[in-house]
Amino acid sequence: MAIHVHRQERLWLTAGLAILVVFAAVITTSAIVDGFVPPSRVQSIDPTKVAQTPPFDHPGLRRVAPGAYEAYYVARIFSFTPAEIRVPAGSRVTFYVTSADVEHGFSIPETGVNTMVTPGWVSGVSHRFAKPGTYLLVCNEYCGAGHQLMAAKVVVTP
Ligand code: CUA
Repeated sequence: MAIHVHRQERLWLTAGLAILVVFAAVITTSAIVDGFVPPSRVQSIDPTKVAQTPPFDHPGLRRVAPGAYEAYYVARIFSFTPAEIRVPAGSRVTFYVTSADVEHGFSIPETGVNTMVTPGWVSGVSHRFAKPGTYLLVCNEYCGAGHQLMAAKVVVTP
């Protein structure tokens, strides 16, 4: 006895299956394209030697051109180094972040800055700060008992 499946039900089952196949194909393709490394990772680093590895042995802000900066951050439980940077409005800042211990997050709400910080990798993300103000930089990946205290400031001066 054949099981009767309604035509519309069969249609939805087919559509659901097709979507799963598309998702699997997209994930597989992007993994191959990115070399099985998450997109914001720019290079690898020995997580046990962060404090001795340039430029993370001297974290902080570098001016690379007029209006262009690079900011090197070390994330560790439960702080970011540097705790504060200051740039003039209109500056483009490229953030390079690595972790000296566990997985952290690196997010400046209401900007495009949002990346995971994985031990062993340097994450890179760039943003142009058009408006002056004090921007809160937070860890948005649970990393332990002091996670909610893990924050820093980006001060954009007029
Ligand atoms: Cu670091 Cu949460």
